Amino acid sequence: MEAKIETSQAKRRRIPVPAQVVIVWIGVYLFLKFVIKPPLPSSLILMYMTMTSVGLGIYVSIYEDTLQGFMGPIVDFLRGDPLRARPWRAARWAVLVLVPFMAGISTYQKLTPSAAPPIDQRVIHPAPPREFAQLYSPIPHTPENIMAGKGLFIAYCSPCHGIKLDGKGPQYKGFDPPPANFVDVGTIAQLQESYLFWRISTGGVGLPVEGQPWKSAMPRWETRIAPENIWKIIMFEYEGSGHVPRTWE
Ligand code: HEC
Repeated sequence: MEAKIETSQAKRRRIPVPAQVVIVWIGVYLFLKFVIKPPLPSSLILMYMTMTSVGLGIYVSIYEDTLQGFMGPIVDFLRGDPLRARPWRAARWAVLVLVPFMAGISTYQKLTPSAAPPIDQRVIHPAPPREFAQLYSPIPHTPENIMAGKGLFIAYCSPCHGIKLDGKGPQYKGFDPPPANFVDVGTIAQLQESYLFWRISTGGVGLPVEGQPWKSAMPRWETRIAPENIWKIIMFEYEGSGHVPRTWE
């Protein structure tokens, strides 16, 4: 029994303590980075890795012999045990040169201004032009008008926005930005009818500067659909998605 424990302990000792520390550290990092789904944000990984480092520090320093095992090889390496042959000297020189070099590079990278363009700050729902802001639907809210709107929507809009209004029509994959998902609370549920009338009438080309850069595939419908039919489509969009338009009150 005792002999067994001893051999297993002897086996464990064979991996030098610094290597144990490195293996556990890298193992934990790989686990956090690649195994856990959904991926963790890097700030959280940093936090866990700090905790891992503290844990390893405690593991190493809690017993005299692990501390010795950890420090010994490092001190040997830095001091240059005369019994050790050439490769160690070369490695020591490499460390001596590389550490200040890396520090220099990272300082340089932090200080040089970047030539990359700033991130696109795009306003998703910019204010409509004044002539559109105060519009109200002149079309009565009747089942016939909703049905007419549905027919028009299926004919003109569903290839991109989808029959289910979820932005996943047969053509949606080719577009970036993707066609709006009207079922989502982030689109028409937040908007007024007048806003939709503006966006449908003037499409992607009608977006103001603050809505750019924005390679919107949304067509300009005012050239093809009469205003009263656009209002019918809007009526169906709200009816079909189960949302109600926002109003001032
Ligand atoms: C060629 C594909 C395509 C077709 C067809 C199309 N759209 Fe769009 N639509 C888009 C894309 C892409 C966007 C997102 C970019 C944008 O807002 O301009 C969009 C955005 C919209 C928005 C803005 C939603 C928001 O949250 O701001 C509305 C409203 C809209 N579409 C209505 C319609 C209606 C109604 C029709 C049919 C008359 C239609 N679309 C047809 C591609 C299309």
